[in-house]
Amino acid sequence: APVKKPRRFRFFKFFWRLTYISIIGGTAYLAYGVYEQKHPDDQFEPDPTKKNLVILGTGWGAVSLLKKLDTENYNVIVISPRNYFLFTPLLPSCTTGTVEHRSIMEPIRSILRHKKAAVKYYEAEATKIDPERKVVAIDDNSDIKGASNKTEVSYDMLVVSVGAENATFGIPGVREHSCFLKEIGDAQQIRKKIMDCVETATFKDQTPEEVERLLHMVVVGGGPTGVEFAGELQDFFDQDIKKWVPEISDKFKVTLIEALPNVLPMFSKQLIDYTESTFKEEKITIMTKTAVKKVTDKTVEAEYTGPDGKKTMQVMPYGLLVWATGNAVRPVVRDLMSQIPAQKDSRRGLAVNEYLVVQGTKDIWATGDCAVAGYAPTAQVASQEGAFLARLFNTMAKSEAIEQQIHDLSSSLNLQPGNTAEIAKEIETHERQLRRIKDIKPFHYTHQGSLAYIGSERAVADVSWLNGNFATGGGLTYLFWRSAYLSMCFSTRNRVLVVLDWLKSKAFGRDVSRE
Ligand code: FAD
Ligand code: NAI
Repeated sequence: APVKKPRRFRFFKFFWRLTYISIIGGTAYLAYGVYEQKHPDDQFEPDPTKKNLVILGTGWGAVSLLKKLDTENYNVIVISPRNYFLFTPLLPSCTTGTVEHRSIMEPIRSILRHKKAAVKYYEAEATKIDPERKVVAIDDNSDIKGASNKTEVSYDMLVVSVGAENATFGIPGVREHSCFLKEIGDAQQIRKKIMDCVETATFKDQTPEEVERLLHMVVVGGGPTGVEFAGELQDFFDQDIKKWVPEISDKFKVTLIEALPNVLPMFSKQLIDYTESTFKEEKITIMTKTAVKKVTDKTVEAEYTGPDGKKTMQVMPYGLLVWATGNAVRPVVRDLMSQIPAQKDSRRGLAVNEYLVVQGTKDIWATGDCAVAGYAPTAQVASQEGAFLARLFNTMAKSEAIEQQIHDLSSSLNLQPGNTAEIAKEIETHERQLRRIKDIKPFHYTHQGSLAYIGSERAVADVSWLNGNFATGGGLTYLFWRSAYLSMCFSTRNRVLVVLDWLKSKAFGRDVSRE
């Protein structure tokens, strides 16, 4: 009779098999990723008889559209002052060097070069959209300027995907004295300032009040941007700064100020409580029901509303101030809205219909943070909207081609009287195909959940799962957060770089040099 192998032996065999499969699978995945990223073959040249499709922006909405668009159907022109796509969910990690900024950037040239038909890219800002003349005025605002730096681009179809700018609500001093957290440059500026505050605080003969001020890091806005940044900053201090500069270990302080009664209002009550208790453990001070009213170069003035409704003013000295109070409409979008009577009641951006067509216009669509479609301004929404528009435009091109075929066949009915039955049959087939293609359903957003990092290797997640909601927080959620964001990175190159950054900062600590 065959001898049965011990259980332990069977377990190791299973374990080795699993390891082999993972190594082979991982290597194949990486190899495919590298192959995919290589310089591709030549592209089709744009066809001047096709329609001009102009896309403004290179963010979540625009890039998701470009990824799925069959560019051979149009003359596609992309206009944006930023010649790369930015993976914003990992931007707070760049402020402390947990992730290096280039690891979350993907050049737009590489994205466009992988399309079947060539796409034109102009590094410029759209300054005005004229829906009457169907032109966009563009301006090259980069440091290097050529003889031509202001011009107009005409469009047959236009997609506005320019995102939003930082909201300041006109609060005095905010623009002059605080750092924002929206772009790569913002994260770099914050990273520099953190270490500048630390080095200045340890300068010879620094007064105790000045040390206290310089090491007070204030974050305004308890939405996900403010919370994630506060968590990353406290990690940086606990895991690195404190070890390299021990003399400041009891003086570094992070304060998060929020006007509403709690932080992360879009998360469930249980996760809000978990975040607040985690922040308490991490020694991050949360000041809720406190609205900042004024900012100077060294102080923040905020109004606290007590339980009895009584308001008290507080003045807090700070070294670094990060302003994360949400989105405001960009000037080019505001200007377009002012030209369209149907947009007069819209405040937060371009009101769009269920096909993302800008209300009151023809041939203009909008996606992402600059569009008001009834959803939160998130990357998830912007990328689903972009993908929807790609499907819509691919279908429109297909149906136009079939309509042309039907038109040609119908005209040939008169020229070839002998073939009438055959041609009529062909026309009928095309018409059936056309009806199927034209049956495009309106845009429908599928919410996959919300995730946020809250520091000390913990995250919170409200995930939609099997028609229900699943709220979780802690260390395991942090691993889920990391794997979810890693899988969402734009390319294999980004994924490899982010993993290497994580390993590097774990092994050697974050880099505390000030560039
Ligand atoms: P953007 O991605 O901002 O892109 C706008 C593009 O337009 C940019 O390329 C810009 O350069 C360009 N542009 C600007 N002005 C002009 C102009 N005048 N002419 C032409 N081009 C112009 N969402 C999530 O769902 N999950 C997250 O984890 C998450 N984390 C975030 C973390 C941070 C720090 C921030 C700031 C946001 C985060 N978001 C997250 C929100 C998400 O980034 C936005 O909702 C998303 O970027 C919106 O996409 P968009 O295409 O509308 O705009
Ligand atoms: P937000 O709009 O979500 O939050 C801003 C917060 O600032 C609000 O809670 C508001 O009450 C507060 N505020 C406004 N004025 C204030 C003042 N004067 N004083 C004190 N507090 C004030 O903005 P945020 O965090 O920048 O996010 C913008 C968008 O990006 C949101 O839709 C968000 O969901 C998305 N996002 C998602 C992330 C994620 O899913 N992990 C991460 C970052 C952003």
